[in-house]
Amino acid sequence: MATAHQAPLTAVVLAAGQGTRMKSTRPKVLHELCGRPMIHHVVDAALAAGASDVVVVVGHGRAEVSATLDRAFGAQGKNVRTALQPEQRGTGDAVRCAMPHLAPGAEAVLILCGDTPLLDPEQLKSLRGALDAAGDAPLALLTAKLADPTGYGRILRDGAGRVVGIREHKDASAAERAITEVNPGVYLARAAFLERALAALTTDNAQGELYLTDVVAQAARAGGAAAVVADDVGSLVGINDRAQLAAAEEVLYGRIADRLRKGGVTIRASARIDAGVVIEPDAVIEHAVVLRGATRIGAGARIDVGSVLTDVVVEAGALVKPYSVASRSTIGAGAQIGPFSHLRPDSEIQADAHVGNFVETKKTVVRRGAKANHLAYLGDGDIGEGANVGAGTILCNYDGFRKHRTEIGAGAFIGSDSQIVAPVKIGAGAYVATGTTVTRDVPDDALAIGRVKQENKEGYAGKLKARLKDAAKK
Ligand code: UD1
Ligand code: CA
Repeated sequence: MATAHQAPLTAVVLAAGQGTRMKSTRPKVLHELCGRPMIHHVVDAALAAGASDVVVVVGHGRAEVSATLDRAFGAQGKNVRTALQPEQRGTGDAVRCAMPHLAPGAEAVLILCGDTPLLDPEQLKSLRGALDAAGDAPLALLTAKLADPTGYGRILRDGAGRVVGIREHKDASAAERAITEVNPGVYLARAAFLERALAALTTDNAQGELYLTDVVAQAARAGGAAAVVADDVGSLVGINDRAQLAAAEEVLYGRIADRLRKGGVTIRASARIDAGVVIEPDAVIEHAVVLRGATRIGAGARIDVGSVLTDVVVEAGALVKPYSVASRSTIGAGAQIGPFSHLRPDSEIQADAHVGNFVETKKTVVRRGAKANHLAYLGDGDIGEGANVGAGTILCNYDGFRKHRTEIGAGAFIGSDSQIVAPVKIGAGAYVATGTTVTRDVPDDALAIGRVKQENKEGYAGKLKARLKDAAKK
């Protein structure tokens, strides 16, 4: 027989339960931690532990769970499938439902629960070593010693310290309930043994279910059940309610930050960085920054306090000043954003460009070195290299029915409080005078001015005030 180390390994993840204590319409395993559904973290751990195939047993919310898995792992080309458990008749029944879906020739089966998102792949790998070392034993399992073992299955050992079985809390005697070594629900079994053992399960227990845990007593009689006592109990926690979800997410955020810090990134304590975010060395991520999705931060870039970036690429040395919000956009090398900038999808802020406070962009490229420093709406625009967009400029891109584009040429100057009514082109080097409403194209290097002529009436202010005062008395 091949050693477990070499044998093709299939993982089975049990995820058919409803998760009543979440008090949610959403299946438990789809609740998110660090921007990814709980089940994805478990599947990741299984893959990282060396599983070539993963079978997720689904029941409650199966369509949603399957679709979510397909989107994430199908796109990565990973072998992640689902098996249906039509009725939740226990963990043993759940594994039975998975068996027909194992990869042909699978020799070892790693069994995990879909609600344990903190699993450590190294710990899972240690089970493979234990199964090999245990000779004839057809099964290895993790165990954990807990100060409060309430609710867990207890590990039963004989006088010689060998594992002989697991007793579920509800079936346990007072003496058994005093046992503090528990079953976290992580097993590695030889496939042929598992097939036989599952077939022999009965519902003769307090819950009338098919207990997967009864497989352990069968293994004990058939050559032994090898136990690995986990030293990191924290990675085995299961999520049953929102409080546990929050606590586990904190742990995961901590792990992500620690990993990034080891790579030379400064991350202040309250930053929240999702699992898929990539950050290069010497970047600084300030307090209360939230980085989501496929965001990438280049070397030496600084993301200042309170900014929220979702699927944004920030290139080297760029500066995102406080409280900026951006999604599905790019910020070029050395560019500056914020404070209080809003980059909506498909904004491209090129190298050394500046987008300042209360500037909103959408489907707009702000080319190299261009500036829009204050109070502007730039939608469906192309702002040329080195152009300057004054305060209060609005690209009027929407006529109530369709969106239209504005092009502003390189080096153009748009005076403050101008409205640019799209579709329109403003040429390179052109100058739009303050307060102009641009409705026609402006040639290169031309001045566009469109404002009512100013008139000054000498001494008229006093008369006007007197009249207004009189009117107010009446
Ligand atoms: C199970 C173990 C217990 C262990 C505990 C660790 C059994 C009989 N008991 O108990 O020894 O200490 O986990 O958390 O295995 N599931 C299905 N289909 C079902 C039933 C459950 O897919 O028919 C899934 C659930 O979605 C969940 C996992 O299996 O992900 C565990 O089920 P749960 O009901 O939470 O088992 P426990 O009673 O906690
Ligand atoms: Ca449980």
